[in-house]
Amino acid sequence: MRIELHPRQSQAFASPATELLYGGAAGGGKSFLLRVSAIRWCLAVPGCQAYLFRRTHPDLRANHLQGPGSLMELLGPLLAGGRARWSERRGAFAFEGGSVLKLAHLQNDGDLIKYQGAEIHVLLIDELTHFTEGQYRFLRSRVRLGGLKVPEALAGRLPRIECATNPGSVGHAWVKRAWVTPRPPGDLWRAPAAEGGMRRQYLPARVADNPTLLAADPDYLARLSGLGSPALVRALRDGDWDIAAGQALELFSRERHVIEPFAVPARWTRFRSLDWGSSKPFSVGWWAVADGTQGGLPAGALVRYREWYGWDGRPDQGLRLTSDQVAEGIREREQPGERIAFSVADPAMFSRSDGPSPAERMAAKGVLLKRADNDRRAGYQEVRSRLTGVDGAPMLYVFSTCADGFLRTLPDLVLDAHDPEDVAKGGQEDHAYDETRYACMSRPFAAGAPAPADGGGDRWGRAFDNPVEHGWRVA
Ligand SMILES: Nc1ncnc2c1ncn2[C@@H]1O[C@H](COP(=O)(O)OP(=O)(O)OP(=O)(O)O)[C@@H](O)[C@H]1O
Ligand SMILES: [Mg+2]
Repeated sequence: MRIELHPRQSQAFASPATELLYGGAAGGGKSFLLRVSAIRWCLAVPGCQAYLFRRTHPDLRANHLQGPGSLMELLGPLLAGGRARWSERRGAFAFEGGSVLKLAHLQNDGDLIKYQGAEIHVLLIDELTHFTEGQYRFLRSRVRLGGLKVPEALAGRLPRIECATNPGSVGHAWVKRAWVTPRPPGDLWRAPAAEGGMRRQYLPARVADNPTLLAADPDYLARLSGLGSPALVRALRDGDWDIAAGQALELFSRERHVIEPFAVPARWTRFRSLDWGSSKPFSVGWWAVADGTQGGLPAGALVRYREWYGWDGRPDQGLRLTSDQVAEGIREREQPGERIAFSVADPAMFSRSDGPSPAERMAAKGVLLKRADNDRRAGYQEVRSRLTGVDGAPMLYVFSTCADGFLRTLPDLVLDAHDPEDVAKGGQEDHAYDETRYACMSRPFAAGAPAPADGGGDRWGRAFDNPVEHGWRVA
């Protein structure tokens, strides 16, 4: 078996890093390098357990198992000679020396847990920005040497992680923070102990580094340039990580929008917004409408003065509480006599699968919900126009105490790669954002038009007009 790597790929192949990120631009030969590397470790270290991940199952097969340059082709001679075997059932190649290359994905929510007991010697992740930081950290925690005997010539190089990616997907922010920003490309440094303490390195790859692709498809660059959004073109063609295209709420800034808590005047209208979750976090926001008399906040501005973020302290992991428990928890967090004008909630809370809907259950506990307007694009616009505000003054503020949900998760959200007018759906921790969007949609704000100073009674009134839909039936 003879495989030739291009110079940039060879550099990555020989890298002494144990937590490597290879990539940047599209087409730079990233996926190919991961496949070759996986095969190398399996052949060089008998008993090696290598895992090659992609986020979804179809991508995994299409990219790595089928077509020219795929594992099937690269391993063809070994498979034909009986020195390696493919098991469809296991989704793995077994090598004669006892090594295994497992093809893995996290297509479904529960998939991560399958790797709980895994001992991973070589972790290879393709399109790393399709993964959340939580997923990556979990997989990294499975990387260990165990009893594996590493040949002397390769001492210190295992266990290891090799990742490849383009910028710009849901994991853009955390990947950039971990590999790209801290040091110049090519530098080798030790990651902080809290982040695993491995030897990190970022090696950029550009399309020009992959002569195979350009020879086979000379129009590739032109097609990339025709993508539309200039930022997306820069990200994919040049591997530019400083793109705003990734960030959905780049308008948010800690200086402008975060304020220290103060006692919210009793006369300000207050309401809640809810996003439901059980294995994923739920998020409850408490909002007050400023009346223009306090702390320099413009009349009509929304102030997020409290939140309850239902996570267990690990990214995107929920508390698995029942709707009754959440309703009770909401009431416990409120002051005696605190008057809440209305609550807008995730429309999914109104669907019944078996017995009363979560909204009906919460109504029975005294938390009356109305169905939020779930128009995603309009909601994104509402949130953005409130962050922009009028004459330099935002129309949305957040108490610095809302740290677990809003302040931790909103700044990192990225746009939908296919829809620049919406935040990417799924794959990122968007629960506090969703409920913020519901809150903003319940009090639409158009820059230039005075915001209503009352409690938005019209929309609130609908909860009374349609009691069944809004969960009053059991109240
Ligand atoms: N050293 C090589 N020898 C032969 N073919 C190669 C080599 N490197 C890459 N290729 C081929 O070039 C094409 C593009 O490479 P690859 O899929 O690895 O790029 P990529 O950076 O992962 O692209 P994308 O950004 O689209 O995921 C593939 O068909 C691959 O098989
Ligand atoms: Mg690829």
